[in-house]
Amino acid sequence: VTIDDWQRSDKYFEGFLIPKDEVLELATKNAEENGLPAIAVGPAEGKLLHLVARTMGAKRILEVGTLGGFSAIWFGRAVPEDGEVLTHEINPKHAEVARKNLEVAGLSKKVTVVVGPAIDSLKKLRDEPKFDLAFIDADKDSNVAYVTEAKRLVRSGGVIIVDNVVRFGLVADPSTTSPPIEGVRAMLKALQTDTDLECTVIGTATGRGGYDGFMYALRK
Ligand code: DHB
Ligand code: MG
Repeated sequence: VTIDDWQRSDKYFEGFLIPKDEVLELATKNAEENGLPAIAVGPAEGKLLHLVARTMGAKRILEVGTLGGFSAIWFGRAVPEDGEVLTHEINPKHAEVARKNLEVAGLSKKVTVVVGPAIDSLKKLRDEPKFDLAFIDADKDSNVAYVTEAKRLVRSGGVIIVDNVVRFGLVADPSTTSPPIEGVRAMLKALQTDTDLECTVIGTATGRGGYDGFMYALRK
């Protein structure tokens, strides 16, 4: 199985279940033209996040790692008019592209992009009112710190989702020791004894990221 097979597979399922989306297509084009890396969540993943948010009736969503604002657009569409998405991005150029994409999507009012190192911004956030849902998809080395802050900021019964926890199976391969992989492992080790969260990991296979996966946690 190669990445081409997974690209075909993406198109196949999108063809049935995810209507053509001009806003997301424009966002992708804008991100490409501005040289952003092509590592955003794909349509099926974005829609899953959107559906989780809607299923929960989420009103406040926290995100770490905005990139071009793709998942932020899916989340912005999921929250009600008086809802809020607070998304964090370290790279000012990425944040500028994301703000433009959110404006085109008509979501500037609901979605706020905070620029700077997310851990500093998160630590400054008050823990009330709580968030319903947190999505962590930034530098993997900081996953433990992000989950720690997300736990403080997400309500009991809320959800924390972390992207890229499988990485082609490399997380489970002891011969791989790069900092991002070690960041995922450190998070898993912390989750193993965490009594505030009930967790699972589910693999994803896509034409963008190949084999990867989400960590999904219920905040107890
Ligand atoms: C990378 C980061 C991501 O968040 C992702 O979804 C895929 C790849 C990366 O840093 O390579
Ligand atoms: Mg990711």
